[in-house]
Amino acid sequence: MKYGDEIELFVESFASEGKSIARVDGLVVFVAGGVPGDRVLARITKTKKQFTEAEIKEVFVPSPLRTLPRCQYFGVCGGCKWQHVSYQAQLEFKRQQVVDALERIGGFKGITVNPTLGSPDEYFYRNKMEFSFGEKWLTKEELIRVTGKQETRSETERFALGLHIPQRFDRVLDINECHLQSETSYQIVNTVRSFSLERNLPIYSTATHTGYLRNLVVRQSRRTGELMVNLVTSQERPELMKSLCSILLEHFPSITTIINNITERKSQVAIGDYEKVYHGPGFITEKIGRRTYRISANSFFQTNTLQAERLYNAAAGLARLKPDDIVFDLYSGTGTIALHIADDVKEVVGIESVESAIDDARRNAQMNQATNCTFVLGDLKEKLTRDTSWLSNHAKPTVLMIDPPRSGMHEKAVLEIAALQPERIAYISCNPATQARDLKLLCSNAPYRIVAIQPVDMFPHTYHIENVVALSTTAQ
Ligand SMILES: C[S@@+](CC[C@H](N)C(=O)[O-])C[C@H]1O[C@@H](n2cnc3c(N)ncnc32)[C@H](O)[C@@H]1O
Repeated sequence: MKYGDEIELFVESFASEGKSIARVDGLVVFVAGGVPGDRVLARITKTKKQFTEAEIKEVFVPSPLRTLPRCQYFGVCGGCKWQHVSYQAQLEFKRQQVVDALERIGGFKGITVNPTLGSPDEYFYRNKMEFSFGEKWLTKEELIRVTGKQETRSETERFALGLHIPQRFDRVLDINECHLQSETSYQIVNTVRSFSLERNLPIYSTATHTGYLRNLVVRQSRRTGELMVNLVTSQERPELMKSLCSILLEHFPSITTIINNITERKSQVAIGDYEKVYHGPGFITEKIGRRTYRISANSFFQTNTLQAERLYNAAAGLARLKPDDIVFDLYSGTGTIALHIADDVKEVVGIESVESAIDDARRNAQMNQATNCTFVLGDLKEKLTRDTSWLSNHAKPTVLMIDPPRSGMHEKAVLEIAALQPERIAYISCNPATQARDLKLLCSNAPYRIVAIQPVDMFPHTYHIENVVALSTTAQ
C-alpha cells in the first residue's frame, strides 16, 4: 500500500482516541470517520512502518451502528467526532475502552465493567462553550467539501468566529450553529460576529501580537438559567464594550452578566490577566445536587451539569459512604465532590494544587454552610510525602475520593496511598489508561480488590470517557 492507493476495507473496531481500525494482511489501517461494520472504499493518506492511515472515498455498506450526524460542520469541526455513531453504540465503545485499558495496561483479568451511564442530554449538554476568533479559516473548497454548500461568504473570509479545527490550531472554523450548548448560545456568537464585522474589529494574532478580538466564552447555568458572556480581548476598549453590551442585552434579555477579560499574553487560553464587569454580578450560579456554586469567568466547573451530578452520585454510591466516614477528596478542584458528599459523612478534607480553586472551594463551602469540609493547598505528592503536618489535624481517612487530571497520579502519591490504606477508594478518571496504570501499582502494593467499575459519559459524540473504579480492602 502506498500513498494515494484506493482499497476496499472492512472497519473492525474503534481504537483509543476514537480512531476506527481496519486490517490488511495484519497491518493496521486507521480509517478516518469509519464505524465498525462499515465496508468502504478508502484512499491511503499516510504510510508508516507500524500503521497506515486512510480516508473514506465511498461507503459501500454502512455499519448498522451508523446514524445521521445532526451538525452541518460534522467531519471538520473537532467538537463531535462520533455524531455519526448511534448513541447506544457510543456508550458500548466507551465501555470497551475501559475494559481494554484495565485488562491490557492494568493487568486486571475477568473484570466486570458496568454499562456506561449515558448522559441525560445527548445534545446541548454543555454549560460552557469557548469560541475563538481567527484570521485563517477553511478555504472555500474545504468548506464546500464539508458542507456541500456553494457558499461564498467573501465578507468573512479573513474573519472566523467558531471552533478550532483538530490538528490545525491556526485554523478556526466559522460556525453559525452548534449543538453542544443552547440555541441562545450560538445566536450570541452570531450577534458578536455581526457586531465585530460591522465595526471592522481586528482579530488578535499570536504571530504578530496585534489585533483585538481573542475569544468569546458563553456560560449558561443548566439549573438556574443564568447566562454569562465573556469577551476575551488583547486590550481594553470600554466604549466598544458598552456598545456590545447594549446590543447583546437588547437581543438577549436573559443574559445575566457580561465580562471583558483582557490579556496580552501570547498563549491561546481564553483567560484574562484581569477582567472588567460590564453588566450584572460578574458570575453565574449553578446547582449540583443540594449545592449551589458560584462560577466566575475563569473558574473551572464541570461542563455537563446534569451528568456531573450523576457521576458524583455514582462515585459516592460505590464508595458506600457512612455517617462516621473521614473522607479525603484528592485533587479536589473547586470542592464539588467534597461538598456533594459532605452531608453523608463526618468530615471531608480536599487537597488541590491550584490556589484559585482552593479559594473557590472554601467560598463554596461557606456559601453552602458545609462546616465539615476543609481544603488544603498543595501538590498531592508533597502533601503525602514531605509536607505532611496537615495530616495531624485530621483523623486517618476511611475513604478516598480520587479525581486526578488526565495524566493520572504521581507514582509516589500512589505508594503513599497504598501505605495509608483507607478501607474504601473511589478513583474517578477521565483517562482509563493512566487510571489502569495507577491501579496496577496500587493493587500490587496494598490488598485492594476492585469492587465495581462504572463508566460515565460526560461528553456525548466524543470518544472521551469518565470512569469510576471502586476499591475495598474488605470482603464486601
Ligand atoms: C479532574 S480535576 C478534578 C476536579 C474536581 N474533583 C471536580 O470534579 O471538579 C483535577 C484537579 O487536580 C488538580 N491537580 C492537578 N495536579 C495536582 C497535584 N499534583 N496535586 C494536587 N492537585 C492537582 C487540578 O488543578 C484539578 O483541579
